[in-house]
Amino acid sequence: MRGRVGLFNCRMQDNTVQIVAPEEFGVTAVNLLESVLVERPNALVVLPTGNTPLPLYAELRRRKVGAMRVAMLDDYYDAASLTTNSYHWLRREVLDSLNIGDERVLRIPTAPGNLPAACAEYESALARAGGCDLIFLGLGPNGHIGFNEPGSAVDSRTRMVTLSEATADANADYWQGAYRPRAAVTMGMGTILEARRVCLLVRGRNKSTALRAALEGPEAPDVPASFLRRARELTVIADRACLK
Ligand code: PGA
Repeated sequence: MRGRVGLFNCRMQDNTVQIVAPEEFGVTAVNLLESVLVERPNALVVLPTGNTPLPLYAELRRRKVGAMRVAMLDDYYDAASLTTNSYHWLRREVLDSLNIGDERVLRIPTAPGNLPAACAEYESALARAGGCDLIFLGLGPNGHIGFNEPGSAVDSRTRMVTLSEATADANADYWQGAYRPRAAVTMGMGTILEARRVCLLVRGRNKSTALRAALEGPEAPDVPASFLRRARELTVIADRACLK
């Protein structure tokens, strides 16, 4: 569905909104990724953590789509001191199954020390790698993207952030309460918007308010997802529950 989309009264002329049945979610996302890999077999792709992309990862494992390089969207502060972190999550869900070794993974820096310099170097590494071809993103119930919480500027860069209570709780749930992160490092909204293509993945009824705010509300830092409308090419893959 291209052009102005009736379901969402927003300016979407260069963008695509695909509303899919739950069983089509992973297939639709992998089809998009494969279309990118046809043009650029070793594309640099950003894969997020969270529950939303799980159907994408199940389908990637099924189809053994694995030629790409991967960059990380975010991770918890001092992730190397943890086994409960985004890197291990990605290894478990997708990287190991697709035999994507560390030589093909750009890990976001989180080590204590000179993090601003390490974050600037991460941005340089992304540029040296040719820039991100495709960034998959989940949507926070509060409109966050990665760990860009409400208040994040459109031109924010990779940086250390403090998590909101709600985001910390949601992340603690991922680890059955074994770890509750308070700080993290995330690609900034400005970093994300430099990608050649952005794909926002949205599943579930609890995301409907955030999705409407992202696509129909004003573009503003209180809903960082609203800035995605400025992406060079944006695809939104949402399941029907989000329309409730
Ligand atoms: P979820 O989280 O995919 O687990 O719903 C998304 C997010 O909060 O960014």
